[in-house]
Amino acid sequence: MQDLYNIVVLISGKGTNLQALIDASHRSSYTISAVISNKAKAIGLNRAKISGIDTYVIEQESFNSKLEFEESLATRISEINPKLIVLAGFMKVLSPQFVKLFRGKVINIHPSLLPEYPGLNTHQRVLEDKKKIHGVSVHLVTEDLDGGPVIAQDAVYVRPDDTVESLAKRVLEREHIIYPKVVESLAIGKIQLSDYDI
Ligand code: GAR
Repeated sequence: MQDLYNIVVLISGKGTNLQALIDASHRSSYTISAVISNKAKAIGLNRAKISGIDTYVIEQESFNSKLEFEESLATRISEINPKLIVLAGFMKVLSPQFVKLFRGKVINIHPSLLPEYPGLNTHQRVLEDKKKIHGVSVHLVTEDLDGGPVIAQDAVYVRPDDTVESLAKRVLEREHIIYPKVVESLAIGKIQLSDYDI
């Protein structure tokens, strides 16, 4: 039997990227073993439950320190033993220790054309800077915030009448296409994450 390419998806909120990954999984070579949220109220948890995917809530507030939170997160992930850890709107910066533990196995989607605009409020900053092109990046997670090697990108034009909301919507539409494609490409070995020195 072929080895199943199982992934764990980490979320914090709406989970529209998770939904795109769920929808595409039915015609793909990967399966979602579990969804973990660091927010109990994350809407994305319902998306997973509706699809019969195991869900776990691990909130930092339940622990005395970030270290203990990450230890619990790491233990849960290790039990699930995924081939890939997919951050999809997971709004928590992971420590270098955590990243090292899962070296080369964690990917993230970020709403900008990295290395431009790491961090938060990317759409607003792009508008303020009067940029003409914006977009989305999928990258390997390293200890540098939004700084790991880029795996794939897609660009959108910024329109003169764009608002944060309209721009975010167009970028998100591209996110929903590119993220399942990248995960599928990893699942079938079309893209390989080399043992990147993080
Ligand atoms: C997405 O736009 C994702 O790129 C972004 O959060 C949103 C989550 O939406 N992630 C980051 O900003 C990470 N730095 P979703 O919960 O609907 O998938």
